[in-house]
Amino acid sequence: MRATTAINVSVIGLGYIGLPTAAFFANAGQQVLGIDTDPRIVDSVNDGVTPFDEPGFAALLQHVVDEGLLRASATLEAADAFVIAVPTPVRKDHRLDDRYIRSAVSSIARVIQGGELVVLESTSPPGTTSEMAKYLLSLRPDLTLESGKENSVYFAYCPERVIPGGIMREMASNDRVIGGLNSASLERARNLYKTFVNGSILGTDAKTAEMAKLTENSYRDVNIAFANELSLICAENGVDVWELIELANHHPRVNILEPGPGVGGHCIAVDPWFIVSSTKQARLIEMARRVNDAKPDFVVRRVEDSIASTSAKTVAILGLTFKANVEDLRESPALAIAETLTSDHPDVHFLIVEPHVEVLPGTLGSHSNADLVDLSAIEEGCEIIVLLVDHDEFLEPVSDLNDKVILDFKGVWSS
Ligand SMILES: NC(=O)c1ccc[n+]([C@@H]2O[C@H](COP(=O)([O-])OP(=O)(O)OC[C@H]3O[C@@H](n4cnc5c(N)ncnc54)[C@H](O)[C@@H]3O)[C@@H](O)[C@H]2O)c1
Repeated sequence: MRATTAINVSVIGLGYIGLPTAAFFANAGQQVLGIDTDPRIVDSVNDGVTPFDEPGFAALLQHVVDEGLLRASATLEAADAFVIAVPTPVRKDHRLDDRYIRSAVSSIARVIQGGELVVLESTSPPGTTSEMAKYLLSLRPDLTLESGKENSVYFAYCPERVIPGGIMREMASNDRVIGGLNSASLERARNLYKTFVNGSILGTDAKTAEMAKLTENSYRDVNIAFANELSLICAENGVDVWELIELANHHPRVNILEPGPGVGGHCIAVDPWFIVSSTKQARLIEMARRVNDAKPDFVVRRVEDSIASTSAKTVAILGLTFKANVEDLRESPALAIAETLTSDHPDVHFLIVEPHVEVLPGTLGSHSNADLVDLSAIEEGCEIIVLLVDHDEFLEPVSDLNDKVILDFKGVWSS
């Protein structure tokens, strides 16, 4: 055991996942060093200020930083355990872009001494933990995967399941799947996560744990694709998809999810590709991805038809984020739809209502025909309202909708 001031856990990547994880470890009494390549994030964490909005998280971060349990740096130091939570984007060919993982592993290789645990939390294709171990050992051939030796290194995979917006609730209470490259690695990882996880810790091998995370999100994607496909079929047949789903869900063994303008975020819209690119068997999973990816085009066509038939001059767009009540715009179909409409229709004025952003994001800000406005501003001056995100602020219809065309792609006002 190192001296008491030594670092117990180093979390590499202080984003939506890594920073709360680091704070929960610290709150459980561990001495935590958080590493990020972005100096603004390092400074913000050291000031005790959260770089992103997450209900209830600011107070926890402030507390663990004030107590001296968590500090951030750009430079990794020796630690008992390293937890990697860096981005794992998908490349154009739908395979993993592993450059962030490799960079994190390279920095671990510079400080590791033998006896440490390395945990990958980033969502990754099957086999990534094993590849990561091979890469580390290629940089440090003096270390070994064989357990119980002075120079042993232990590797595990521990996927994260928290929902943005509910991280304070779910980080400790969710059940966690942990897969070890061997049983000693699993036990070490289990002991580490037990320090703050109250849910069950479900042990398995690394590849099954990697697949578990991808399977969970593919399950969601396939089921949303079913709902989205129904919405296209219903539009063609003049059937209200919301009413249809409501009726079908009265069957005791049917539970159809909700359609929407597409699937976004950094998980459900991305993770299934890691399964698809690893096998030729994933036909349904691939088709679901394609159905969900095609939905924003359908929404754009519906809005364009409506603009053409009403000769609308002003269109209100409600919501830009990838889902309700968050500020996260990553892979957001709503943002992509708004960007396409504003750039393809320069003669139409777009009133954009997004309570979770301060300025128009992406290319929207550069379009003179788009303005970020309050919800109250749309009552007067628009002919079409396009609802893309079911934020709480939109649940009650604005008062005077009678003379407007409502295109509600979340079923908020239509049901
Ligand atoms: N956001 C979610 O809801 C969620 C949920 C489950 C799993 N995940 C997975 O967790 C992983 C991290 O996602 P996120 O949302 O926290 O990403 P993020 O983009 O919010 O944060 C990643 C952080 O890593 C930093 N970084 C990149 N390379 C680095 C390096 N070599 N060393 C140190 N820091 C580095 C970046 O600067 C960034 O701050 C991804 O694999 C993601 O798929 C995310």
